[in-house]
Amino acid sequence: MGILDGKVAVITGAGSGVGRAMSNLFAENGASVLVVDVVPDRVEQVVKEARARSQAKVEGMTLDLSLRESPDLMVDRAAKVFGRVDILCNNAGIMDGVRPVVDTPDGVWEKVMDINVNAPFRASRRAIPLMQTSGGGSIINTASVAGLFGGVAGAAYTTSKHALIGLTRSIAAHYRSAGIRCNAMVLGAVNTNIGVGATAPDPKGMEHLMKAMATLPRTGEPGEIAELALFLASDRSKLLNGSCIVIDGGWTLL
Ligand SMILES: NC(=O)c1ccc[n+]([C@@H]2O[C@H](COP(=O)([O-])OP(=O)(O)OC[C@H]3O[C@@H](n4cnc5c(N)ncnc54)[C@H](O)[C@@H]3O)[C@@H](O)[C@H]2O)c1
Repeated sequence: MGILDGKVAVITGAGSGVGRAMSNLFAENGASVLVVDVVPDRVEQVVKEARARSQAKVEGMTLDLSLRESPDLMVDRAAKVFGRVDILCNNAGIMDGVRPVVDTPDGVWEKVMDINVNAPFRASRRAIPLMQTSGGGSIINTASVAGLFGGVAGAAYTTSKHALIGLTRSIAAHYRSAGIRCNAMVLGAVNTNIGVGATAPDPKGMEHLMKAMATLPRTGEPGEIAELALFLASDRSKLLNGSCIVIDGGWTLL
């Protein structure tokens, strides 16, 4: 028996890092999972891993969530394949080269907003009516300390994660009576591929970021974040709604 037995989860950015760890742990705990990522090889790999850990169904979908139609296609696919959506993990996210506002081109700003904010908004808009029909659900947004206390990450990234926390609180307040909970995981630094292949960071932005990084107690592992996600996804966290849970090893404590 797993604590997610019978539940269906849609996980974005599931091909790597935190999303990959969530996909595997959710499958291990009985959930059917739709693994969504823009990189096809990653989708294939994680589907294989998750299937090996689970009796439940695991399916993959390669999709670019920066495109307007993608979030609807993703939720519709899960509903078609699994018949319901109980858990939506808006986890896919990109960084912005740590650019201060004056050095941020429109293209970078827009892409970060499309993936980090607009896709979670659209996916939630599509999934919530399904959750209302089935009697409830759990939406988990992967935010960042840059979205609560931020100032030293790039302008677009910091703004996008603040917006994601706003979206979290809005959903939590509006749909609580329908049994739908929405919480945010507020990550510190985690050992993933988020910096790999990213455009060269802005030196001015990096100088600020490095000062903050100097006080980091330690880098987290994706599996440690997935444990929090598992709790938020399960009925064991029923009293948590609209919470923005900092998981940073104490980095942001004074
Ligand atoms: N790693 C950290 O230190 C850290 C800190 C704070 C917050 N976060 C957040 O954690 C989340 C997960 O990131 P991660 O650290 O696991 O990074 P990661 O790069 O290892 O994984 C992110 C995944 O998202 C996918 N993705 C990117 N753009 C996409 C798109 N347009 N459509 C679909 N998928 C797309 C990537 O292919 C990748 O597989 C992000 O929202 C990130 O902002 C990470």
